[in-house]
Parts: sequence; C-alpha cells; structure tokens
Amino acid sequence: MPSFIDELPPLPDGYHIRKICSDDYGRGALEVLKALTTVGEITNKEFEHTIETWARHPEIYHTLVILDLSETVVAIGSVIVESKLIHHCGKVGHIEDIAVRPNQQGKKLGCTLIRHLIKIAGSLDCYKVILDCDPANEMFYAKCGLSKAGTEMQFRF
Ligand code: ACO
Repeated sequence: MPSFIDELPPLPDGYHIRKICSDDYGRGALEVLKALTTVGEITNKEFEHTIETWARHPEIYHTLVILDLSETVVAIGSVIVESKLIHHCGKVGHIEDIAVRPNQQGKKLGCTLIRHLIKIAGSLDCYKVILDCDPANEMFYAKCGLSKAGTEMQFRF
C-alpha cells in the first residue's frame, strides 16, 4: 500500500512542479514570495547568484516551484536539509518560505508543494521535518499532515 510520503496529491490540470532555476526570475518567483514577506529589490544577477549558491550544495538546498499553463510561477517553497550529530548523525528537514500567489490560493497548491518537500526530506533520510509559522497557518499545515510541536523562539537582528 502506498505510504503518505509516496502518495502525492495531483496538481490541477495545466500546472506542474519542478526545481527552481535561474530563469524563474522572469517567471515571477519573487512576486510570489511577496505574499509571504518583504522581498526587497532583487536584481536578476542577485537572484542567479543565490540559485547558483544553492546549486553548489545540492544535498542541503531544495527549492521547488509550481508553474501554471502560462509558465508563471504560482507557488514556491524550500526544504533545507540539516546534518546533525544527534540521532546518530541524523538529518532534519526545515521547511522554509512557502508562498502561493494570492490569486491562486485555495487550489491545494500549497499543500501539494508541502507534500513534495516532505517527500524530498524523506528520500534523503531525514528523521523529521519541522517549520515555524504564524498561528493563523496552523490548520493549513495540519491539513498537509504536520502536527504541532514546541514553541518558536527568535532573536532578531
Ligand atoms: N487557515 C486554515 N486553513 C487553511 C489556511 C489557513 N490560513 N490556508 C489553507 N487552509 C486550508 C484550505 O482551506 C485547505 O483545506 P481543505 O483541504 O479542507 O479544502 C487546505 O488548508 C489546503 O489549502 P491549500 O489550497 O493547499 O492552500 P494554499 O494553496 O492557499 O496555500 C498558504 C496556503 C501557503 C498558507 C497560502 O495561503 C499563502 O501563500 N499564504 C501567504 C504566505 C504564507 O503565510 N506562507 C506560509 C508561511 S510559513 C513558512 O513558510 C514555513
């Protein structure tokens, strides 16, 4: 029987999911992230530099995008794989920077993206996947299969 990790929900017709690439600057990847937080004025060169930095560490950085039929980025999210000493040199996946274009929310794109990121972490032998979120998003993550654990703390610079 397929497990929760293997059985990925389908995307709506015309949408596809893949790894981010440098050309996604022109496909609106940064506009999507503005649904999450301040992004700043990032040049194409700065965008490419970050994608190249991630590409040099393929065991750590995994960023996926969902595109619609017009090849516009409509959702984006990452899982960062941390290698630890505890749990017999285990690995933990940190889900980060999840955003769905406002006019595309409510189509299960966010949940499908999360399920793909969890699958990546599982395939890399992570023993868990964790994330920090606003309490307003708790139900969303619960619907994607995550459960509440712990308290978020921060020190802001
Ligand atoms: N509260 C309660 N339920 C929610 C919420 C919410 N805020 N958002 C979605 N859901 C529910 C949906 O109703 C749906 O329920 P159903 O299966 O019963 O129909 C289920 O969760 C799946 O929803 P999706 O359609 O997959 O969600 P969507 O594609 O709209 O993406 C997201 C949700 C990512 C939170 C989107 O609204 C968004 O981009 N928000 C702004 C940015 C943001 O807050 N990102 C998360 C930051 S946390 C982090 O990055 C680790």
